[in-house]
Amino acid sequence: MTASIDAAQQLVADLPATAAVWCSGLRKRYRRQTAVDGVSFTVGRGEVLGLLGPNGAGKTTVIKMLLGLVRPDAGEVLLLGRPGADPRARARVGYLPELFRYQPWLTATEVLMLHTRLARITVPAEEQRQCLAMVGLADRAGDRVGSFSKGMQQRVGLAVALVARPELVILDEPTSALDPLGRADVRDLLLELKERQVAVILNSHLIGEVERVCDRVVILDKGRVAADGTLAELLGQRELRMRLDGVTPEARERLAAAGRLTNQGDAYTVTLPPDHDDAHVPDLVADLAGLGVRIHSVEPGRISLEERLLGILRGDQA
Ligand SMILES: Nc1ncnc2c1ncn2[C@@H]1O[C@H](COP(=O)(O)OP(=O)(O)OP(=O)(O)O)[C@@H](O)[C@H]1O
Ligand SMILES: [Mg+2]
Repeated sequence: MTASIDAAQQLVADLPATAAVWCSGLRKRYRRQTAVDGVSFTVGRGEVLGLLGPNGAGKTTVIKMLLGLVRPDAGEVLLLGRPGADPRARARVGYLPELFRYQPWLTATEVLMLHTRLARITVPAEEQRQCLAMVGLADRAGDRVGSFSKGMQQRVGLAVALVARPELVILDEPTSALDPLGRADVRDLLLELKERQVAVILNSHLIGEVERVCDRVVILDKGRVAADGTLAELLGQRELRMRLDGVTPEARERLAAAGRLTNQGDAYTVTLPPDHDDAHVPDLVADLAGLGVRIHSVEPGRISLEERLLGILRGDQA
């Protein structure tokens, strides 16, 4: 008997950790408009996933289906290993909606209190205060949210998404109203969540922001997944772009030893191999100088996520 319990426990222990989000074949149609058409993806624990795509691509509809706020026509959702509709899963998820308004007569502190009571989670008052401080509202905690600016309202929304110690946070355009400082704060906040193994889905049109914090990206276009991968997979290999003259055959050979070489006039580009170590760049420069090459510029480069996104949406080949 004990042996079979041990075996069962071992079996459970050997199961892979459940993903923060798993969804498969999500579909939603509004009258004649297909908003989402066969979307599947996974978000691992502690992973930050960027959800990108043009206006109307279906990002918010996907998020609402994950959270059970919109009923899918087809498809399945697991949140933190439980069916999406299970309230025990929902209680561990923080959500900042795209459009929201809190009761304008409540203070920021009261909004958080109301939210934790509705979520049936006890969060000490001090921790709630810290949460408001984290989004930069320490000084305004006692003011009514009806008197808040747009960006301040968005900060309250962030505090609401974070206050109940979520294991998964879904943010639908969290920084659209924030000033540059506020955006930088959100970036730090996301990195802190990642450190604590909290999974995040970030929907944002600010691609630079996504590129800085996300591990993986799902690009939606017309309701379908147009691309899905880690930043390294989507952006490909890195390059070294140089402007050189006096390139002798020996120097050309040295350049080609560093990676795939192309050149046009005085512009030389070396596509670096995946295992390239940046520490080798100064060696290459020193060797080229030693071979008598005149080096005008050396610039490490990689295609940006924005260029890649536009390429995918315009239907260019990778
Ligand atoms: N409640 C609704 N009723 C009818 N159509 C809807 C509804 N919600 C969304 N849609 C339609 O579904 C499509 C996807 O909308 P969705 O809000 O998911 O896009 P999005 O990718 O979040 O866009 P944005 O970047 O503008 O926020 C759009 O064509 C939209 O008009
Ligand atoms: Mg949206």
